[in-house]
Amino acid sequence: MDAPVIRFAGVSRTYPMEGELVEALRGIDLEIEQGELMAIMGPSGSGKSTMMHIAGLLDTLSRGRYELEGEDVSSLSKNQRADIRNRRIGFIFQSFNLLARCSALENVELPMLYHRPGVAERRERAMAALEAVGMADRAQHLPRQLSGGQQQRVAVARALVNRPALILADEPTGNLDTRTGREIIRLLSSLHQQGITVVLVTHDPEVGRAMRRRIFLRDGLLERDEAA
Ligand SMILES: Nc1ncnc2c1ncn2[C@@H]1O[C@H](COP(=O)(O)OP(=O)(O)OP(=O)(O)O)[C@@H](O)[C@H]1O
Ligand SMILES: [Mg+2]
Repeated sequence: MDAPVIRFAGVSRTYPMEGELVEALRGIDLEIEQGELMAIMGPSGSGKSTMMHIAGLLDTLSRGRYELEGEDVSSLSKNQRADIRNRRIGFIFQSFNLLARCSALENVELPMLYHRPGVAERRERAMAALEAVGMADRAQHLPRQLSGGQQQRVAVARALVNRPALILADEPTGNLDTRTGREIIRLLSSLHQQGITVVLVTHDPEVGRAMRRRIFLRDGLLERDEAA
C-alpha cells in the first residue's frame, strides 16, 4: 500500500509569547490516507490552523515527525519547504488571499511562476483550472470585481493548477453565506472524487457531516476521530 499522504507522529508546536510558551499542538499522532475527504473541527484556539499550516509546510514543528507521502519533511529548509509545497500542496484560505492588482487568470498563474513553464502553457493551464471551477468567463476580472464565492473559486483554481496530491483549506466557507459556502464544498468534494486528498477546517457541523471523516481538536490535542 502507498504511504499515507500525511503522517504526524508526536507533532508539537510551541510559540514563544511574551516570555511564555503557548502550546498550540501537544503531540498529535495522525495518518491521512490518499483520497480522504476530511474535516478538522474544534473550538477556537484548539490548534486547527496551526495543524493546517504545519501540514501545508507554511510553518514548522517544534517536536515530532511529519512525513508527507512517505518522505520526512520535519526539518527542511525554508526553500525546500516552499518547493515541495508548490509542487504537491494546494492551500485555500478563509480570506481568499488573492493579489488585488492581478486578474483572476494572473492569480491562478502565480504558482506556476516557480517552475517557469512557457507563457503559453502557463496561460493554457490557468484557463483550464478556471474552467474547472466555472470561472473561465471571469478570467480578466480583478478580485474586487468578483463576489466572495467567485474569489474563492479562483483561489481553488490557484490551488489546483500545479495538480497537487493534497488540498488543504482553512475555513474555506468562513467568509461566505450558506448557499455560496455549499457550492465551494461541492467543488472541493468533486476534487476529492477526482482522487485528490482534501482536508479542510470548519466550524460548521453541516460541512463536517458532508465529509467522510472528522477529527476534533481540543487544547492542542486530538480529542476524537470519527469516520462516516
Ligand atoms: N504565530 C503565533 N504566535 C503565538 N501564538 C500563536 C501563533 N499562532 C497560533 N498561536 C496560538 O496557538 C493556539 C492555536 O491557534 P490556532 O490558530 O491554531 O487555533 P484555531 O483552532 O485555528 O482557532 P480558530 O478557530 O479561532 O481559527 C492559540 O492559543 C493561538 O493563540
Ligand atoms: Mg484557525
